[in-house]
Amino acid sequence: MRCVGLEFEEQINRLLAGMTRRQKVGQLVQYGSFREYERSLVDKGEIGSLLNFCGSTLVSDIQKAIMHSPNPIPLLIGDDVIHGYATGFPIPLAESCSFDLPLIEETAAIAAREASADGVNMIFAPMVDIARDPRWGRVAEGAGEDPYYGSLVAAARVRGLQRNDWDDRPHVTACPKHYIGYSAAEGGRDYDYTEISEQTLREVYLPPFEAAIQAGAGTVMSSFNDVSGHPASLSHHLLEDVLRKELGFEGPVVTDWESVQQGVAHGVAADDKDAVRIGINSGAEIDMNSGIYDLYAEQLVQEGAISEERLDEAVRRILRVKFALGLFEQNQTTPEKAAAIHRCPSHVETARQMARESIVLLKNDGAMLPLDKKAGRLAVIGFLADSQGDALGCWQCKTKKENVVTPLAGIRSRVSPDTQVEYYIGSGILDGSEEEAEKAVEGAARADTVVMVLGEACWMSGENNSRAHLGIPPAQQRLLRRVCAVNPRVVLVLMNGRPLTLTWEQEHVPAILESWQLGDTCGDALADVLFGDYNPSGRLTITFPRCEGQIPLYYNRRTSGRPELIRYLDEETAPLYPFGYGLSYSRFVYGPVSADADRLAAEGAVQVSVTVTNDSAVAGEETVQLYIRDETASITRPARELKGFQKLLLQPHESRRAVFTVTPAMLAFVRADGRLAAEPGYFRVYAGSDSTCEDGVRLLLTEPVQLKPPAAGKDANA
Ligand code: BGC
Repeated sequence: MRCVGLEFEEQINRLLAGMTRRQKVGQLVQYGSFREYERSLVDKGEIGSLLNFCGSTLVSDIQKAIMHSPNPIPLLIGDDVIHGYATGFPIPLAESCSFDLPLIEETAAIAAREASADGVNMIFAPMVDIARDPRWGRVAEGAGEDPYYGSLVAAARVRGLQRNDWDDRPHVTACPKHYIGYSAAEGGRDYDYTEISEQTLREVYLPPFEAAIQAGAGTVMSSFNDVSGHPASLSHHLLEDVLRKELGFEGPVVTDWESVQQGVAHGVAADDKDAVRIGINSGAEIDMNSGIYDLYAEQLVQEGAISEERLDEAVRRILRVKFALGLFEQNQTTPEKAAAIHRCPSHVETARQMARESIVLLKNDGAMLPLDKKAGRLAVIGFLADSQGDALGCWQCKTKKENVVTPLAGIRSRVSPDTQVEYYIGSGILDGSEEEAEKAVEGAARADTVVMVLGEACWMSGENNSRAHLGIPPAQQRLLRRVCAVNPRVVLVLMNGRPLTLTWEQEHVPAILESWQLGDTCGDALADVLFGDYNPSGRLTITFPRCEGQIPLYYNRRTSGRPELIRYLDEETAPLYPFGYGLSYSRFVYGPVSADADRLAAEGAVQVSVTVTNDSAVAGEETVQLYIRDETASITRPARELKGFQKLLLQPHESRRAVFTVTPAMLAFVRADGRLAAEPGYFRVYAGSDSTCEDGVRLLLTEPVQLKPPAAGKDANA
């Protein structure tokens, strides 16, 4: 469903004609609290939206109040529904590792449905920032490092959030964020400066926004960061030339929290009033929370610094969304309806399916996993093994930690009656006592098998939670080393919101599961995987570096003129776990990659295929990945880029063929002149199980193919 609402012009004209300037400005104002002042704005009809509070009764009362005001226009009610609302789903990074787009769409749809039952009609998601720096805490909120896959996930999440297939509650608009380049913060420090070339902007950061807009996103959130000298929320170039003209976005832009006002700190606005002038004229329609539009916009229009037309255009964009969502007809919710929807059994079942698909098996020496349910004496160690809150990750909305099944509870409920499960905290997340550590080490020495659940607290990722050291926090790591010294049978379960540096662990621990932060059904999903009721199928959507000094490290980098000489004196250059990596309890064997032709014309297509055999007695799913390298082009191209994937479910000893249709569109890139085009020449096409796969074929594109005209401001003749 598109939430842009271009078809309501007549109603909007009528409304606009009856509005005072103050009322119009009110539509641009969004506050993040609801006290006496905001209440008075509602009573006068001088506010357009509110955020970050909800509850069906409260929202209904406020909506009723505004509909009885002199300017009866329903409010947008925004909230950060990032990975579930009442039902806690895995963090978005975890979900992305499932490579299961329909299921990702489904969890978004459920989240929107649950939120809307509480009156939320504007969801500040999906976060579609391509994240290449694991120090940045918000990698947890996105779909990883790849623009192609990130775009597919962005579109799936927008479709899910805006599915709106219910009639009795307000519909929801998605708000893809943070436009643009927010994840490129230097040093991974949240909010910091970003240096992004126009080429990288178009290749890496814009595609997921374009996909989200094409999927019908009703609003977009502009970001805090300075993009090569242009703070995004005050940049006419980024908001008008790129977002509107180039990407075709027609809805309103909501600024991130007070980010127009921050133009003063950035040094592009003299004071708050100046920031309002720049913000509105640049295309930032809704000001989140600062109140400066409320204070100065009317006066600026009076003084002619902002034209009446520009104000009307901004209001129109906002009203279109309100009409598209049907808010004028239906914006009431009741606690009864909400209670019937929140965490209903099918939502929890979907959460569990998503959670198990999100888990990535990183190492499994000697087929240590799956564990036997008759495990004898099983020691479970780690604070996180029994922490309900941490499994919920960042942005917890209305989820409740009481609903979370912890890893310990999941394990206890799955083992056979004669298995003895002993639990030891061992250490806190950041520190611990010698006494607890000693007890855990003794317990581990006695146990047949040890499961250690280690990693990050929920507050260690998400907004403004950057880290410079990416190891498992030292207290937990010390414990792990001591446990490994007394018992060789250790399974390490990681609970964390970002890639960690795990070189010691990879060398010394026989089995490692990356479980991220899995939400409500964490323990059940983990037990499914630990005991073999579910064969892990997740694949990494972000590179795991060996150490922090390798960052930035991502698979689709450009090669250098001396690729063989690129090195560190003191560390390998390769990552610890590459993009696309993940193991299974099955063993998959790839046949040779082949193609039905070696030449491709403008209208043509070539089938590239590979046979995969499950050479084991366990059914399992393999994610076959297709990568393409443009061997020679007018500008340098990445060493390889993901262009397709297929999930194959293979029964024991079954073989199946993954067939990919390669078209010229898959060979295209944004040229220096801004055209999206494929240039004739040779391309290397690889297929395999992760981004390091080497087997492939060579294709010749015989003629140029242009897919899109030049970007705004680019010289068409260049
Ligand atoms: C975050 C956004 C969020 C907004 C509203 C900001 O601090 O950067 O992602 O949507 O707050 O809560």
